[in-house]
Parts: sequence; structure tokens; C-alpha cells
Amino acid sequence: MAETLAVTGTTKKEKYESLLPQIKALVEGENDLIANLSNIMSALKFGMNFFWVGIYFVKNEELVLGPFQGPVACTRIRYGKGVCGKSWELKQTIIVENVEKFPGHIACSSLSRSEIVLPAFDKTENVTLVLDVDSEDLAAFDETDKNYLEQVIKIIQGCVNL
Ligand code: SME
Repeated sequence: MAETLAVTGTTKKEKYESLLPQIKALVEGENDLIANLSNIMSALKFGMNFFWVGIYFVKNEELVLGPFQGPVACTRIRYGKGVCGKSWELKQTIIVENVEKFPGHIACSSLSRSEIVLPAFDKTENVTLVLDVDSEDLAAFDETDKNYLEQVIKIIQGCVNL
């Protein structure tokens, strides 16, 4: 396993293309969920230079904070609340260009201005966790992020559903 990630490319697409195989390699042959998710969060944060990236696990009727990289964050989010709870409820990826315009957005950091949240599913299509990525820039996330982060979700699902 490589000790440090080397992400090449200048465009977002090139960076994801460089990073994804390294994320796959990071978790290959390791079955510890927390270890794998922690490394994936670090790879995303430092590989893509995100402000905050983390997991919220579905536990009973709440989302509970899991492995993340970035400033401290809210520990629990209720079903349907905030962007994370809404992504869980709708079972779909949500891109928010301006968090101030998203009704019910939960501000863990006043520096976060846009975000993308993606749900991961178990084999019966229940949401098991969401991946939340935040940026200090407005409208930082688009279909390119959705496409590549959904590939990261597949890797995460592989770790969770072992
Ligand atoms: N903004 C999220 C809460 C999580 S933090 O940003 C890390 C939301 O509205 O669900």
C-alpha cells in the first residue's frame, strides 16, 4: 500500500481519475470498516482538497457521525433534517450550490458554503450511511463530483456489505 497519495491532473475529472484507483487499492484486502472508511475520508480530503468530508451512519432514527476529515461536526442528524437527512429520506444524491438557500440546512461550520451528500445502500436498498462533502466555495459540486463520488460510494458499499 502506498503511504502517501499522489494525485495528478489539473481538472477535477483528472484528479478523480487519478485518485479512484488509489482509493480502491487502499481498501483492498482489508476488512475493517472503520479503518477503510477513515482512509477513504483522508484520501478524499487531501486528494481533492475538500473543506470537510465525512460519513454519517444510519443508526435507529438518526444519522450518527462516523469517520471524517475536517473541523468538528454535528454528531447527530434526524431523519429528513438538513441535507444529510434529506438525502437519506429521498434515497438520492443532493447537490446544494448555496447552503444558505437550502431550507433546513444544518451549519456545522459557518465556512461551509456548498455541499454534496450521497447515500449508500445495503443489499435490500436501505440507506446505511451518507457521504457528505463540504466546500468553502459556492457551487463547488456538479455532475462530475456526483459521478465520481458515486463510484466512491460503490467502494464504500463494498466495505460495508462485506
Ligand atoms: N450540512 C449538513 C450537516 C453536516 S455538516 O455539514 C458536516 C446538513 O445540512 O445535513
